Amino acid sequence: MMSFPTTRLRRLRYNPLVRQLVQETTLSADKLILPLFVRPGKGIRQPINSMPGNFQLSIDEFVKEVKEVAALGIGGVILFGIPELKDGEGSDAMSDAGIIAQAVRAAKDAAAGQLLVITDVCFCEYTSHGHCGVLCGHGVDNDRTLDNLVKQTLVHARAGADMVAPSGMMDGMIHALRTGLDSEGFERVQIMSYAAKYASAFYGPFREAAESAPQFGDRRSYQMDFAASAAQAVREVAFDLEEGADIVMVKPALAYLDVIRMVKDRFEGVPLAAYNVSGEFSMVKAAAERGWIDEQRVVLESLTAITRAGADIILTYWAKDAARWFND
Ligand code: PBG
Repeated sequence: MMSFPTTRLRRLRYNPLVRQLVQETTLSADKLILPLFVRPGKGIRQPINSMPGNFQLSIDEFVKEVKEVAALGIGGVILFGIPELKDGEGSDAMSDAGIIAQAVRAAKDAAAGQLLVITDVCFCEYTSHGHCGVLCGHGVDNDRTLDNLVKQTLVHARAGADMVAPSGMMDGMIHALRTGLDSEGFERVQIMSYAAKYASAFYGPFREAAESAPQFGDRRSYQMDFAASAAQAVREVAFDLEEGADIVMVKPALAYLDVIRMVKDRFEGVPLAAYNVSGEFSMVKAAAERGWIDEQRVVLESLTAITRAGADIILTYWAKDAARWFND
């Protein structure tokens, strides 16, 4: 056993060039995905109060944003829609003329081959009640929701989506989507499953951004209980992989680094994404605005931690800033 003074761990820390030489975790823009919010209208860039620097964009403004994101070398965008009209089933999401179908076509026209156009597949932004599927009594009907999720996914695929990301935590959703996609010839469209998604208060600002807060109750009958055994996340991931998921996700990220690491260790070789969610973003923004912390340093430390925990891909509202910081 080598010990002091033969071994001095600080020896690798004095010279910045040596520190860099022995670094393990590196970040790059092509591993980041930027969430974007689209809404009907023209020339609209409606700021989201609780998420400084993020906007609800009309399609024309969204196209400009997509081009900028592509130019920064960011891996992809994931799209969330705020429809003109919400109803009980979320019809806008199942229409080829709906807001996301329009956005996907516009994004592909603007930047096909330069970045991935990914769609969030879920109903909470499109239903009048704000729940992630079709209601039965006071809960979400799992199996009827699956039928609608397939319709929504096919709308996205026909519009040209490269990848779909179901986030509703319905049982059997990956199997339903894979079967639906394959039956229409979309066997090349990847599924990134929000496999281990927790019922989290960290989604608060997003619900303002997407106008998707549940009108009654909460999402605890479908999203995971953060106090449950972490092994439950392993089961969720195993099921989704068996059903055909290509990429799996843990969400949120920073309060769930243990889950990210556990999934990475159990499922070697499976691409793993982590969603650095809205609440994680807004907390840092608020503290930085008050001068209490250094935003850039905190963000780079956090993204490094998420990567070190085992995430290969990070969905983050900082994607554009981070891409610029990497280049500096
Ligand atoms: C559901 C969805 C949500 C988020 C991503 N997809 C909200 C929810 O489950 O209530 C949250 C993302 C964030 O907080 O940044 N469509």
